[in-house]
Amino acid sequence: MPATPEPTPATPAYPVGLRLAGRRVLVVGGGTVVQRRLPGLLAAGADVVLVSPEVTPSVEAMAQAGELTWHRRPYEDGDMDGAWYALVSTDDPEVNTAAAAEAESRRVWCVRTDDADAATAWTPATGRAAGVTVAVLTSGTGDAPRDPRRTAAIRDAVVAGLGDGSLAVPGHRARTSGVALVGGGPGDPDLITVRGRRLLAEADVVVADRLGPRDLLDELPPHVEVIDAAKIPYGRAMAQDAINQALVDHAKAGRSVVRLKGGDPYVFGRGMEEVERLTAEGIPVTVVPGISSSISVPGAAGIPVTHRGVAHEFTVVSGHVAPDDPRSLVDWPALARLRGTLVLMMAVENIGAIAAALVAHGRDPETPVALVQEGTMATERRVDATLATVGERARAEGVRPPAVIVIGEVVAVGTRQ
Ligand SMILES: C[S@@+](CC[C@H](N)C(=O)[O-])C[C@H]1O[C@@H](n2cnc3c(N)ncnc32)[C@H](O)[C@@H]1O
Repeated sequence: MPATPEPTPATPAYPVGLRLAGRRVLVVGGGTVVQRRLPGLLAAGADVVLVSPEVTPSVEAMAQAGELTWHRRPYEDGDMDGAWYALVSTDDPEVNTAAAAEAESRRVWCVRTDDADAATAWTPATGRAAGVTVAVLTSGTGDAPRDPRRTAAIRDAVVAGLGDGSLAVPGHRARTSGVALVGGGPGDPDLITVRGRRLLAEADVVVADRLGPRDLLDELPPHVEVIDAAKIPYGRAMAQDAINQALVDHAKAGRSVVRLKGGDPYVFGRGMEEVERLTAEGIPVTVVPGISSSISVPGAAGIPVTHRGVAHEFTVVSGHVAPDDPRSLVDWPALARLRGTLVLMMAVENIGAIAAALVAHGRDPETPVALVQEGTMATERRVDATLATVGERARAEGVRPPAVIVIGEVVAVGTRQ
């Protein structure tokens, strides 16, 4: 029989994925390191038994919620009984040594957070993206010690690259069949979701709006066909039909299609009309929510849409139809009676008439108003006014769409001393 070599710090670990569902994992200790590792064990379905006289409030909450069993006492010999795997992490090295020794004698793989060299298992830095789990293990070599920070940085880089598609995996691109309706956020390319960005990186065809993160289109590889929905040469209603038809045609041709929309697809975005048309054609649709400009644009300009003691509600309203227009579906007298925040979208043209209607129905003319144009973008600007002055201010300052208009006391919150 060959002699078993003594492990050295440079001996590599053997990577493996443990399937812990329904299997007992003993955790000794209840501090912040344990707190960080518990979600992964619980997500894997492990039957976690935790032994510790004290735990952090978060760990206690997990025990109270029935996610794990907590024995509120010190570790005792015999606790490893029935365990498949152990995590030992108290602040007493003697306790850790005793627990690890028991694990060794019972052949339970055991992580020790205070002494990796004395452990029989190491926890990799893990992350998930694009349908894979990335696990990176630190391993020292003769001249380079183990470096957990570098390991975590490598994990982060791989997960980010897979998530946003910048890490190309030739021949193995995960393809989404059909159409993904992706909410692109208010305009800053960093404000799209990770899922949205990944789907964009996997697309063959992108149908993009005028609003949203247009800078991301520059990053697409040359083979990707970009259709500018704003340039479809018909009237409003026809344009939507033409967009729907383009989505249907490209999806039926087997291409991976992303419909990139500004903000969230379902906030004044006609997203459901597109979903209905595609579904009627039997085309699978994925909807990826986005950060709506209705909240994020005020936020980026320093305006919280709610604030304790100031506003307990916010109402998002389209102002594309003037209050006296018979097509209006908005109850302006009711909105004038609300104390909270009003967020107006598509309202630049009608802001004078809207402000007059609100004042006529009882809202204080001194109510603060902010117009935020091209929010979250390099060209963002904010113009402040009151309900009494906003029509004139908007005209004088040349405020243009896209702009979000915020009406209410919250406008003054960020600026007051
Ligand atoms: C057709 S709606 C689409 C809204 C989008 N679905 C959302 O959730 O943000 C267009 C209106 O959104 C607002 N908007 C979108 N992006 C904006 C931005 N970056 N800055 C200011 N307003 C924006 C403007 O009121 C614009 O007229």
